[in-house]
Amino acid sequence: MNSIENLISELNLKPHPEGGYFKETYRSEEEIPQGILSNKFTGNRNYSTCIYFLLESDNFSAFHKVNQDEIWHFYDGSPIRLHIISELGIYSNQLIGIDIQNGQTPQFVVKGGSWFAAEVEAPSSYSFVGCTVSPGFSFDDFELASRDRLLNMFPENNKLIKRLTRG
Ligand code: GUN
Repeated sequence: MNSIENLISELNLKPHPEGGYFKETYRSEEEIPQGILSNKFTGNRNYSTCIYFLLESDNFSAFHKVNQDEIWHFYDGSPIRLHIISELGIYSNQLIGIDIQNGQTPQFVVKGGSWFAAEVEAPSSYSFVGCTVSPGFSFDDFELASRDRLLNMFPENNKLIKRLTRG
């Protein structure tokens, strides 16, 4: 297992606004014109993008959503738990990891438009994963949840929302 410090320095990861560290590793040169995208998209988008994402145990990736389906890939460290609240308000969770006999999955798709957060349950560890989206990522398609707004929408998930939002 690599160390957190090595991954951050060797791969030149930077802090991500949702928590953890990331680096974009791929952005297709070509673009999809806005006119043929659904009206959720406010401009042209690259065909696809991919990032490295690293999350430490004493941190969390706060509830956020993106327009696109997001494909998660497990690389190293401990499994990462995704908590998902669908557009219809249905809660689910999944461990992304390599221990497939115990219900973990090395790849997982979070449906576009769902609110989701992530955490590493093992203490003193990290999870190193990748996230791919198509159309390519833009912060215009990204929304970090306001705690109060999410609590209003999904009061039955209040404990989780309070724990995995920052304000
Ligand atoms: N690029 C910058 N932030 C993100 C993110 O949260 N997800 C994806 N897929 N790409 C990003």
